[in-house]
Order: sequence, then structure tokens, then C-alpha cells
Amino acid sequence: MNNIDFRITNDASLGLYNKEVDDIYHASSGAYSESYEKFFLPSNFKELYFKNDIIKVLDICYGIGYNTKTAINEFIRNFENTNKKIYITSIEPNQNLVYLSPFVKVPQYNVSTKDLTFYFILKQFKQEFCEFIISECKNKYYYDYLDNNLYSYKDSLNLHNIYYQYNSTCMKNKVLNQLLKQINITYIIDDARNFLKENKAIYDIIYLDAFTPLKSPKLWTYEFIQHLKKYMHFESKLITYSISSSYRHALLNNGFLVGNILNKENKIIGTLASLNKDLIKYPLNEYELGLLKTRCGVMFHDKDLNLEDKEIIFNRELYIKNNSHIMSTSSYIKQHKGTKKWKNMM
Ligand SMILES: C[S@@+](CC[C@H](N)C(=O)[O-])C[C@H]1O[C@@H](n2cnc3c(N)ncnc32)[C@H](O)[C@@H]1O
Repeated sequence: MNNIDFRITNDASLGLYNKEVDDIYHASSGAYSESYEKFFLPSNFKELYFKNDIIKVLDICYGIGYNTKTAINEFIRNFENTNKKIYITSIEPNQNLVYLSPFVKVPQYNVSTKDLTFYFILKQFKQEFCEFIISECKNKYYYDYLDNNLYSYKDSLNLHNIYYQYNSTCMKNKVLNQLLKQINITYIIDDARNFLKENKAIYDIIYLDAFTPLKSPKLWTYEFIQHLKKYMHFESKLITYSISSSYRHALLNNGFLVGNILNKENKIIGTLASLNKDLIKYPLNEYELGLLKTRCGVMFHDKDLNLEDKEIIFNRELYIKNNSHIMSTSSYIKQHKGTKKWKNMM
């Protein structure tokens, strides 16, 4: 956890910053509200449950779990004691973040959401999770910096047999017992690229919450999207906060229909892709499509899904250098000055 700094975001939820990548894990405007606005709302679960009893979600880049937890929280709010079910597969290579996640306090969360994340992590990683709790409890860092933002570790420490305790508490607690029939979370501790090489399942909703493409492009490449597509059906939605042109170009070249995600103020806050054009409420306009043909729209490549970020960035820069006919983004913007906001589309 040495690479990570803790920052309280503007909606009072806990955010993280990665010193190595020099990137934030969560928007400074609010870690929880970002998850709710950019990932949960565009999923439109209510409409999906109108047609289906089971929804399968793939949460790529789980981190400390806002997107998974928000989906579960809202599921409990709307579908508790119904025949509806949600199955989530959450991928995160940093195991410590996964272990930290049930402790992260978010006021809007249903208490059962906390207990469920605890339960599923314990179920999968009994031994290591217990060791993590016990060692991290001795880490004064958490107490000093995060007193009000984490659920206490002490309660967990006092459990002689945490797994048994949680298991039996869940089973005795009628509410949780019922929810366990409706909700399942599976954690994958790995690089999402490895998971995609072996996975066979199909998902209704995919969340892609990777670090920004220019800093860490490995989950935004043409080939990564090509693989993701195999795990989607005609009605699936691929949702992200990013509005990067290179990512959008990779989506279009893989046969996706692509649109903006807008917030209440009609500000663009993300990208939604699907194979079904009826699911794209706000398709890219001509200006945005034109931008993809400029330098900022040049795609990242990772043919065998195994390159380091640095190599992917280097190869793209070389390609741009060798293809000087590709229009510079700034010239394009100058030509269309005043027509559209272009910031963050690189
Ligand atoms: C912007 S943060 C996501 C925040 C997260 N959704 C949350 O609610 O806390 C990006 C996350 O991607 C993870 N990550 C980095 N490389 C990855 C990879 N190759 N596969 C999957 N996740 C990766 C990082 O460890 C980090 O937790």
C-alpha cells in the first residue's frame, strides 16, 4: 500500500491516489458520486430487470469497490425480496485494495452491502484476508489518517474465527440469508487481460474503470476491446468514465456503436458502447467523430495482451511520428474553434 495516498473527495467519500502511476483512483468531485453517476445510472438496471431475472456484471478495476458496491446497494434498495438476482465478477490485481474495500465507509450504503462484501471476500480468501486484517490493524497509518472513513478494524480483530463468525452471522441474519440467494460476487485477483484470455462467461453490463488511457493504456487498446466484445451479447453495455478519442476509435473499429454519457447538466461524463444502436441515447456527433481521425484518436495496440504501458505508449508515439499526414488535434480544434469542448478527449 506504499504507493497509495488517501484523499477525502468532495462528497466526503474516501478516494485514493497512486504515486507510481501519478493518477487518481477516484474523481476529486466525489468517489461515490462518480460511481453512481458514471457507472450505475447509465446501466439502467430497472429497465434490464424488466426483461431479465438475472443480470451479470463484470467490474473491471474493482479498486476499493465503489462500482460493485453501488450496484449491490441499489439492487438491495430496489429488488430485495423479489425473484431478481445480480451476479458480479470483480477484477483487481491489487489484492490489498480488495481486502481494504469492505472497510471503506460510504454513508449512502446499506449496512447489508458492507456485510455482503465482507462475506464474499472472506468466503474466497479466508486465510489471507484474516492475515491482512490482523497485520493492517497494527498499522497506525489507517487510524491516524482515516479514523472517520473506515469501519473499525477492531471489531474484526476481536473475532477469534472471523470466517466462522461471519458465516454464522450471515446465516442467522434473515435479511442477509435472503440476500445471499439473490446476490453473488466473485473476486478475481489478476490483470484483466489474463482473465479475458481464459474467461467464458457473457455479461450484461461491463464497467471499465482503468487509469486514464494516456497514463496507463493497457486496458484501452484495440485488442483489449476486441477481447471484451467476446463476452458481450447484442444488448450488453460497456460503460466507462473515459471520453478518450483513442478509446472511442478502438470501439468503433471493433464494430461497437458509441455514445456519450451525460449528467443532469448535459455535461459529457463518459462513454457507453453497445452492439445495439437503440441503447445509444447520445451518439457521437460529427465533431467528435472527426476528432477520432486526428492524432489524439490514434489507437493503442497490445497484440498479445501482454505489453507494459510504457511499450504501448512508445509504439503509439512512433506510429504518430511515422505518419505525419495524420492531422494534429490542435489544428482540427482551431478549425472548429468554439464548436465543442475537447478537453479530456485525448
Ligand atoms: C481508477 S482505479 C478504479 C477505482 C475503482 N473502481 C474503485 O471503485 O475504487 C483503477 C484500478 O485499476 C486497477 N488496475 C490496474 N491495472 C489493472 C489491470 N491490468 N487489470 C485490472 N485492473 C487493473 C488498479 O489497481 C486500480 O485499482
